Amino acid sequence: MLRALFREIVLIDSNSALASAEAADLMDANALARPARIWAGTYDDAQCASIAVITAGGATLGLEDRLSVASKSAKIVSDCMEQLIASGFDGIVLVAANPVDVMSLVALRCSGLPSSRVIGTGTLLDTSRLRNDLAFALSVAPTAIDALVLGEHGNSEVIAFSTLRVGGLSLDRWAEIADGLDEADLSRRVRGAAYAIIAGKGYTSFGIATAIVRICEAIVRDEHAVLPVSTLMTGQFDIEDVYLSLPCALGSRGIERVLVPELSNEEVAALKNSATILRNAAALIRS
Ligand SMILES: NC(=O)c1ccc[n+]([C@@H]2O[C@H](COP(=O)([O-])OP(=O)(O)OC[C@H]3O[C@@H](n4cnc5c(N)ncnc54)[C@H](O)[C@@H]3O)[C@@H](O)[C@H]2O)c1
Repeated sequence: MLRALFREIVLIDSNSALASAEAADLMDANALARPARIWAGTYDDAQCASIAVITAGGATLGLEDRLSVASKSAKIVSDCMEQLIASGFDGIVLVAANPVDVMSLVALRCSGLPSSRVIGTGTLLDTSRLRNDLAFALSVAPTAIDALVLGEHGNSEVIAFSTLRVGGLSLDRWAEIADGLDEADLSRRVRGAAYAIIAGKGYTSFGIATAIVRICEAIVRDEHAVLPVSTLMTGQFDIEDVYLSLPCALGSRGIERVLVPELSNEEVAALKNSATILRNAAALIRS
């Protein structure tokens, strides 16, 4: 609504009173924003939608491991996907429910859609957190920071420091001129950011909402923007059959290309570890 991306937005929740209240609250802002038609509806209303964002899932409620809600979320995501596909929906699915990499795989399997059209929000949010933290530490704008967090959106995520550039300089070069730049501390803060917010307000919302909007924008505007999002691995780094984040080119057809960045040996090993953790988590909910 704030970015005028869509003319119509339908909210669907098993708690229909909540969906109606959220829609009414949004409509209060609508005339002051970029007006759209926003209402609480049904899966039939979503039949001709271009994008379905799956945000229903088990909340972690302070547990410091998103994988702990995998079984609960899998039931919810399967239920949503089955009803969405039964309505005749044939657009792009964007999954935010956690653990988002495993839930994206669940959504793919339920949907029968090509993997290019089932996307997880993945590590776009973590990458935004990293860029913001670094921008503060280096006194530069976040837009000046070219950085990637890859792998699981969760505890095994890989902060690809070897790919990081600020104005063309590597982090090692910046460490020579900036005081107190500590990779371990940065990693800890990025990994723990959501848990710290949840400890204070019970959930996270603005960061993930903006990451969702950014992905939708790249799709709706057919930007071919390269963003780290969760996608099905088909042999990249010898990883297959799991969803995790790599940089992906996004346009009107969804994921158009999965890029394989040049990583250090340690980062490749960490990415493979992330894949193993996600494969095991997916196997647990299938058994
Ligand atoms: N990917 C990310 O970066 C990210 C960030 C924040 C939250 N999340 C995840 O998003 C999910 C939702 O988080 P939240 O804080 O909004 O939780 P929440 O409990 O406030 O909201 C979940 C909503 O889903 C609804 N719901 C439950 N089962 C449903 C079903 N079968 N069909 C339709 N609706 C159903 C509930 O009524 C509730 O309103 C969680 O899994 C959370 O971990 C992901």
